[in-house]
Amino acid sequence: MTTIIRNTLSLGIIAAVCTALVAATWLLTRDRIAANEQAWLEQSLAPALGAMNFEGTITLSRLDIPPPHDLPGSEAAIVYRVFDDGRPRALLFTVTARDGYAGPIRLLLGITVDGRVTGLRILRHRETPGLGDRIDQAKSDWVNQFPGHALGNPPLESWAIRADGGAFDQLSGASVTPRAVVGAVRKTLVYFDAHRDDLFSAPATEDAS
Ligand SMILES: Cc1cc2nc3c(=O)[nH]c(=O)nc-3n(C[C@H](O)[C@H](O)[C@H](O)COP(=O)(O)O)c2cc1C
Repeated sequence: MTTIIRNTLSLGIIAAVCTALVAATWLLTRDRIAANEQAWLEQSLAPALGAMNFEGTITLSRLDIPPPHDLPGSEAAIVYRVFDDGRPRALLFTVTARDGYAGPIRLLLGITVDGRVTGLRILRHRETPGLGDRIDQAKSDWVNQFPGHALGNPPLESWAIRADGGAFDQLSGASVTPRAVVGAVRKTLVYFDAHRDDLFSAPATEDAS
């Protein structure tokens, strides 16, 4: 009996020490983790802003748009508003194309305040290596065909891959993946067009800078 009590006590003490160690590590590292996350975020956002020039101090503010919404994907969409000395300059949308070949495709799309695409980055996908994964900026320059385009350029009906009569390149032997991404970009542009002013003026969900 005493052995059982002794073992139970030992296990309890070990568990308490481990919990205390984890808590202490978290307390000691949380500021650094937050700073690293912020740096990561800014690094990953910058490419989607492409060659935009800024004149003053850039600030970011985050807006989470809960479902249901008319953006691609069924989960909350995250939008970063980019201000240059307080003036609205661009929006960065993180949205999900749900109709990828192998699953959802998470993407980051930058749009200037006047509706031009600044850049597209694929954040997460499970598309097949050598086929659909060529949408990934690390694998090909497929995403680079979007910057400079807007909802009227090309016209809305041409926001599709060439196989579907649209203006955008597909990938040979893998049209399902690019069709999903182009569709998500088009849907995001349509949403931007309808909600631009509200998106810039809505209170931030959480300050990202
Ligand atoms: C094992 C396997 C994996 C595939 N992975 C992809 C993919 O990741 N993305 C894609 O668009 N098509 C993929 N395909 C091909 C699609 O089934 C489809 O044939 C193709 O997208 C049609 O493109 P096309 O109209 O240009 O021929 C895959 C096919 C197979 C058999």
